[in-house]
Amino acid sequence: MTAKYYITTPIYYPNGEPHLGHVYTTLCADTLARYHRLVGDDTFFLTGTDEHGIKMVKTAADAGVPPRELADRNVAVFEAVWKELKVTNDDFIRTSSDRHKSAVQEIVRKLVASDDIYLGAYEGWYDEGQEEFVTETEAKAAEYKSTISGRPLVRYKEPTYFFRLKKYVPRVLWHIESHPHFIQPESRRNEVLSKLKAGVEDLSISRATLKWGIPLPHDPGHVLYVWIDALSNYITALGYGSGDDGRFRRYWPADLHLIGKEIMWFHTVYWPAMLFALGLEAPRQVFAHGWWTAGGRKMSKSLGNFIDLEKVRAAIGTYGQDTLRFYLLRAAPFGADLDWNDADLAKSHKELANVLGNCLNRILKMTKGVMSAAGASDPIDQHLAEMTEALPAKLADAYARNALQDCATLPIELARATNGYIDATSPFKLKDPAQFPRRDMILHLAARAVSRALAAMLPILPHKAAEGLAQLGVNVEGKTLAELFGELPAGQKFQAGQPLFPQVG
Ligand code: MSP
Repeated sequence: MTAKYYITTPIYYPNGEPHLGHVYTTLCADTLARYHRLVGDDTFFLTGTDEHGIKMVKTAADAGVPPRELADRNVAVFEAVWKELKVTNDDFIRTSSDRHKSAVQEIVRKLVASDDIYLGAYEGWYDEGQEEFVTETEAKAAEYKSTISGRPLVRYKEPTYFFRLKKYVPRVLWHIESHPHFIQPESRRNEVLSKLKAGVEDLSISRATLKWGIPLPHDPGHVLYVWIDALSNYITALGYGSGDDGRFRRYWPADLHLIGKEIMWFHTVYWPAMLFALGLEAPRQVFAHGWWTAGGRKMSKSLGNFIDLEKVRAAIGTYGQDTLRFYLLRAAPFGADLDWNDADLAKSHKELANVLGNCLNRILKMTKGVMSAAGASDPIDQHLAEMTEALPAKLADAYARNALQDCATLPIELARATNGYIDATSPFKLKDPAQFPRRDMILHLAARAVSRALAAMLPILPHKAAEGLAQLGVNVEGKTLAELFGELPAGQKFQAGQPLFPQVG
């Protein structure tokens, strides 16, 4: 069944260049978007940059440039890197763009009109790195330091507009409790629920002392709190609040907001509350993936284990983009924390070469360039035939659960089983013409299995899987996954080429 599928990444702060964390979220979202396009869903994939707020102002001041210049410089790098990594986003939203700013002002106008915003005064703690208000109890428990960066919290005391968050808490709670798939993984859901139940205050949503942001339409001396500005991107990019909201009507609610675990609260409490206040539906799912560490420790520039753009590019230079994608997805069950390790990256490449690449090569060699017809079968065939048959449904189930590690390993397991089947049946030993029907059947089943494994790998190895299928005479252009899972017709010409995953070093 085809449907619409709207997937987003967080919009990243362009206060620096993208690093492994950004690359990971974006490539995971790209994999999901590619899968949904392949199954024929009307897919829309959004990413972008979150350019306002105090963090941008401070980084720009340190660099001696205006925030706009810092943003322009790094946004250019983000956009170029996504192109370089062949990320298939359908749009890229900048919060400094006119289309976003005018739509956000429209949102604020609506919230003022519905009396969901009122003027008051805020006094309390703020985590400037996270752009997050922190309660006295949380601040005290964290010794007045950021739980993420360890930097001291800052005391704010100023007039501010508030959003009536408390009014929407019962509905948000109800929504989370009655939609078990809204927050994933499950453990994150419990964290949000217990924090919500502990009590929540109305949310300060404007800053009178900051100039770098979107001015409130009814009181331009205040700029909008950066998170309210940022979360709105998921609808402003679709044209909500503009004269042209066709995309909004077509794609909202989002099917999946993919995020890192540290920004769950904003996405599952503030964002649905805002949407409810606007009379809109909540996103269908917010999935928080884990955090990357490197060499077992938090990535940090001072420790020298920071996986920056240069290191990501070096990994691609050595192993290629598809191996990097496979490694990132395979590294841990999706949602768990992950650890970057050069030896594991090398192992992932070897696995692709020895299992998938090698399986294809053996078959291409033994078939002598043509797909053989099905012939006499034997009980030993059953296991591989069943695994091949079962792959499409297993893959669909893994994608439906966002179990990206399974999505990466299921096809590899089929290729591994195919190699085992070839070893066990030894078709290369069947040289007597009387044995040819049996040999043909073995090669038929093996070729069918590896072609399915390759097709299943297309969202993860978009280039190598297409190359492998081309060697089996299949052009993937414009085909759905269901079509690609179909039979390879007997007599189809193969075209052996270069090994898909050349040996490194
Ligand atoms: N601008 C906000 C998001 C607003 S969304 C409406 C923001 N930006 S960020 O530049 O800090 O990016 C945070 C995101 O980058 C995380 O949610 C995650 O997707 C990714 N990662 C950054 N570091 C990471 C790791 N070390 N590991 C995995 N992903 C992490 O927050």
